[in-house]
Amino acid sequence: MPTENDARTRGTITPIVVYGFGITVAMWTVGYLCRLPLIMAPAPVLFAGLLVALLYGGYLAGKGTGSALSGALAGLLSSFLNLLILGSLLTHPDKTNQVEIRALYTVPGFLIAGAIFGYLGAIAGAKAHRPELVNDAFAGKLAKIAGAATLLLVIAGGLTTGAEAGMDVPDWPQSFGYNMFLYPLSRMTGGIYYEHAHRLFGTLVGLTVLVLGFLVLRREESRTARALALTVFIMVVIQGIMGGLRVTEDSIWLAIVHGVFGQIIFALIITVAAMTSATWRGDAPAREARSAKTDRILGWTMFGMCVLQIFLGAMLRHIEAALHPHITVATVLFFLGMVTGFRAWGLYGDLPPLRRSGLILIGLLVLQVTMGIVALAAAGATRGLSVRPVSDVLLTTIHQAIGALLLGISALLGVWSSRLLTPIAEETPTGE
Ligand code: HEM
Repeated sequence: MPTENDARTRGTITPIVVYGFGITVAMWTVGYLCRLPLIMAPAPVLFAGLLVALLYGGYLAGKGTGSALSGALAGLLSSFLNLLILGSLLTHPDKTNQVEIRALYTVPGFLIAGAIFGYLGAIAGAKAHRPELVNDAFAGKLAKIAGAATLLLVIAGGLTTGAEAGMDVPDWPQSFGYNMFLYPLSRMTGGIYYEHAHRLFGTLVGLTVLVLGFLVLRREESRTARALALTVFIMVVIQGIMGGLRVTEDSIWLAIVHGVFGQIIFALIITVAAMTSATWRGDAPAREARSAKTDRILGWTMFGMCVLQIFLGAMLRHIEAALHPHITVATVLFFLGMVTGFRAWGLYGDLPPLRRSGLILIGLLVLQVTMGIVALAAAGATRGLSVRPVSDVLLTTIHQAIGALLLGISALLGVWSSRLLTPIAEETPTGE
């Protein structure tokens, strides 16, 4: 029987947009990983991965909306967004910025294929549709998708820095004089792949965050969430320009600030995801807690310390400076983080967002300290080599990605403490 949730989701394009972006991010992730110079998966593996992402995305669209048509439209939207990549396959190998004549039938065929596979996935998904389990927090879902895409972009940026490929594409907004969406895929090899794929992914994140901003402004009542979504969009625009200027000005300082800013953007996007989630929007009141203020302060102190640590880490990667401050702050962060994490986990077992975030914080801290020691040892062992070994690049990139996750989880602890906890009101003396 159709429910209130069905009534809210049917007939609106919002779920289609959200699932369409979800499918696209999943497909780009598969494509990015399969084409990494150190992986270079065979074409059948790449196509199988893309197909699975499309079918599964269609399945989720069908499951979430109960309609196979939603899957077809989400698949169509995804194919439309994928045209940003298809251009690099259809471009003329010898004529700059000219698309081959086969685009006339390839593009429509590509769009139709996206709709068909999305539809097929959604037929299966619609059978699993449980209206009572569906919520209409679509902005929250899109924010999670944007967060995942941004984390991958941070990793792609880390790999660009690690492979010392920051200047491998020497111009911007063009790429070697090409429109960046028409730069031939066959030429994206080695360092050029890392840098150029990072640019393309940046465009997808920009579009996702733009749509997220619209959705939050349209559907959310919270002023803070609306202001934050808008801020995130502006920050992403600045970030893109900063990335471009880092290239045109060949500025290492812009590269450092760009790296730090990107991770702050990631943390803010997942904060938007929390603020637009079904739990946040639910009507459960905040719980009175004696230590509410302390836990808020701990979360935001962790956030500030993580920003400082990420900055020191960027200095280390780019100009091999600040090793001692980085290790000192790591030690303070570890102990402060453990206190913050154990408090959230131990004191608020009945509040899943706090309990979970506390537990994740503890796990990430242990992982991060281990990775830091391993990365440092590996860097020492390979110092002096003319080419940085791949293992080194991977270690520092993973270390950087965990840093971004730590920043994000600290922000979540700060905002969830504000939403779920309230200080116990002081008892006023009666004067009797
Ligand atoms: C939302 C958009 C973006 C995010 C979140 C982002 C994030 C990042 C991150 C985290 C790094 C690693 C920095 C480090 O290792 O310290 C990076 C590197 C880089 N990014 Fe971006 N980026 C974005 C968009 C762009 C765009 C549009 C360009 C355009 C050219 C760009 C160009 C670069 C370059 C050249 C590097 C390598 C810097 C170097 O190693 O010198 N980025 N990015």
